[in-house]
Amino acid sequence: MALSIRKFDVVIVGAGGSGLRAALELSSAGLKVAVLSKVFPTRSHTVAAQGGVGAALGNMGEDSWQWHMYDTIKGSDWLGDQDAIEFMCRMAPEVVIELEHFGMPFDRNDNGTIYQRPFGGHSANFGEKPVQRSCCAADRTGHAMLHALYQRNVYARTQFFVEWMALDLVRDAEGAVLGVTALEMETGQVVLFHAKATLFATGGGGRIFHSSTNAFINTGDGVGMAARAGIPLEDMEFWQFHPTGVAGAGVLITEGVRGEGGILLNKNGERFMERYAPHVKDLASRDVVSRAMATEIKEGRGAGEHADHILLKLDHLGPEVIDKRLPGIREIAIKFANVDPIKEPIPVVPTCHYQMGGIPTNYRGEVVVPEGGAVPGFYAAGECGCASIHGANRLGTNSLTDLLVMGKSAGMSVLEYLKGQGSHRPLPKDAGENALARLARLDGQQGGEDVNEVRGEIQRTMQAHCGVFRFPDMLAQGVEKIRALEGRMGRTGIKDKSKVFNTARIEALELDNIYETARATMVCAQAREESRGAHDRADFPKRDDEKWLKHSLWYKAGDRLAYKAVNLKPLTVESIEPKARVY
Ligand code: FUM
Repeated sequence: MALSIRKFDVVIVGAGGSGLRAALELSSAGLKVAVLSKVFPTRSHTVAAQGGVGAALGNMGEDSWQWHMYDTIKGSDWLGDQDAIEFMCRMAPEVVIELEHFGMPFDRNDNGTIYQRPFGGHSANFGEKPVQRSCCAADRTGHAMLHALYQRNVYARTQFFVEWMALDLVRDAEGAVLGVTALEMETGQVVLFHAKATLFATGGGGRIFHSSTNAFINTGDGVGMAARAGIPLEDMEFWQFHPTGVAGAGVLITEGVRGEGGILLNKNGERFMERYAPHVKDLASRDVVSRAMATEIKEGRGAGEHADHILLKLDHLGPEVIDKRLPGIREIAIKFANVDPIKEPIPVVPTCHYQMGGIPTNYRGEVVVPEGGAVPGFYAAGECGCASIHGANRLGTNSLTDLLVMGKSAGMSVLEYLKGQGSHRPLPKDAGENALARLARLDGQQGGEDVNEVRGEIQRTMQAHCGVFRFPDMLAQGVEKIRALEGRMGRTGIKDKSKVFNTARIEALELDNIYETARATMVCAQAREESRGAHDRADFPKRDDEKWLKHSLWYKAGDRLAYKAVNLKPLTVESIEPKARVY
């Protein structure tokens, strides 16, 4: 198949919050920017973010970015890099006000300032008492954000390639990134997007788990492409399970419900979080609440016919608060759980929500590897990147803060880099051949392994062997099972080409990325012999700073692990030294 080539200054893969924020920085500076997206930009997964964006504006009482930084580091169980965390928390108020000026319809206080709600793990004065820090637009914050950013990009003349799937990175002999190959879903045409800089903003890969709050598009495409191109993946063992996914459906019920006063009950009507986090109760950090819920269910205090879920009660907030602050939640509960939360509690379970690890970057969004530092021309931001701001567990609302700050930061770094660049670096002779080989493999496998079956096997394995609680024998079996799937992966293909729609081809291509993401996760999880943040090992129940205060790096070649130090040194303030994490 002949490849056509299109040239841009910058190609951005992904049109969620971080991709759009980066694109805006670059298009506004007059650059020719292509944004590729599998879906229409305002349908990117950022649209599902509900409860808000964290920034210490101090609209509801005293707050400071240093307190936000403390909460983020404590939330990360000290695995986050403190330079990146300081950078994000310090920049957060600026990017939120910028967004307000872009037209984002935030909820308002009577004095006109942005309304901020309480969220888990948000505190004043270094953990002393709860603070209201989450800037929200009812319970549809991500939706409002995407619309504001998309409109600004249209004005700035960003060029969107909608329903295009990026296939693979193009690198030259020096390792510089020269763009990506991509497939137009409608026509099947493959194009090489040749760029001076390439920025990944592909979101997470939560679809590696069977039960997930993530959209079907979240198949780990960025990390899969990076892994295939020889880039290591950082801290992939850390996945956040959100306490409140609708039982049986996985759809997110925002933590904002508990922020507004909702509570979790077991089958006896007991507010059990009082036992697990006596100080902040239902608003403890997510990993703490998810583990408490899983324990209640495991010990037979789950609700419902099968004792398999927890109840989220909010009727006591009254219809006015629910309809004003949580209208989307009411709609979701009615549609997906068949309960009206004005009258009845919502059945919820911990559900895979967020990928803390990803493509290793610094806080400037430059992809950085142990072999040679910054990879020329390659950047990552948002959930696919690992700066590492979230360490072992992300603080609620910091996903939106991260994508705004890191999207803007990566955009600014690209601008800086391009000042020193002349024309495009020449493409190697074999540019794009890896992507074409993948397509040829799929099309040549008529009658091979069924994509849906293999994906289901991966998702069930991840769910059973690498979930909220992790056991040594289950992890060992999980690694074996995932490695054993490699053979089947090589035989996946398009079953019957005479009947195929391009969506089948897309699902087959996505499966390659799901597999890389799942394999990295399982291998890293088995290797980390401690419990930290979202990674809870039955055989190593304690955090072990002496041996494990380090980031893991997984290499696809050789299925190999390496480690690197956590940066405990912030940019301008004192380090926050590791200590016990109690809520
Ligand atoms: O609960 C929520 O609204 C989710 C927010 C987040 O993941 O930060």
